[in-house]
Amino acid sequence: MLFVRHNIKIVEKYFSRRHSVYKVEIQSENKTPAVLKVYEGEKAAALCRTERENLERLHRLDLRVPQVLAWEERALLMEFLPGMTVSRLAENLDTGSWIEKMAYWFARLHSVENASSCMLKGDANLRNFIFSGGEIFGIDFEKMGFGDFREDLSEVCFFLLTDYPPLTTEKDHMVRRFLKAYAKHATRDTGTVLDLSHFRL
Ligand SMILES: Nc1ncnc2c1ncn2[C@@H]1O[C@H](COP(=O)(O)OP(=O)(O)O)[C@@H](O)[C@H]1O
Ligand SMILES: [Mg+2]
Repeated sequence: MLFVRHNIKIVEKYFSRRHSVYKVEIQSENKTPAVLKVYEGEKAAALCRTERENLERLHRLDLRVPQVLAWEERALLMEFLPGMTVSRLAENLDTGSWIEKMAYWFARLHSVENASSCMLKGDANLRNFIFSGGEIFGIDFEKMGFGDFREDLSEVCFFLLTDYPPLTTEKDHMVRRFLKAYAKHATRDTGTVLDLSHFRL
């Protein structure tokens, strides 16, 4: 049985297309909440290792991600982040500070560069970000890599615009705020590839 030493109790199952992700309580630690991600499929062990290594790397870089508490070959136990997914905030047309905080999170990630490219989140759908305690945390790091920063930005903007409710004025506003804040925080000069001078807010 998984994580037997922690005496875990499952309290909720999260939506996941590929794996099994649960909110749990660690009974032996005063019912501390945590998240258990059990990887499914042929590549389960490799995905689990990749995600653990990425989480540990980002944690060392001081980027906001859940801390890994324990792991096995096909499962990770990680810190539970109370709060709301960005997908829920966007669906509610919430216009709070999460937009600038998410832009800042990406600017920090993209500031990790090699010769011609920068670190990318990959799989930047809105369920992979949690607004917790007034800060944005990234989750789900199976597909991280290096490349052009616009790949991540275009995914975020695509989901912001097309997730329910699609293409509203508020969503348009969110995208503009997100890109403006990103350009402000980016360490690289985005001016030549991300010309926002015509943006009105
Ligand atoms: N550390 C966490 N704290 C709170 N909720 C989480 C945490 N990790 C995952 N979740 C929830 O579980 C869902 C699925 O987790 P995720 O790692 O994105 O799995 P998948 O790879 O299947 O998309 C997330 O969208 C989020 O709602
Ligand atoms: Mg996910």
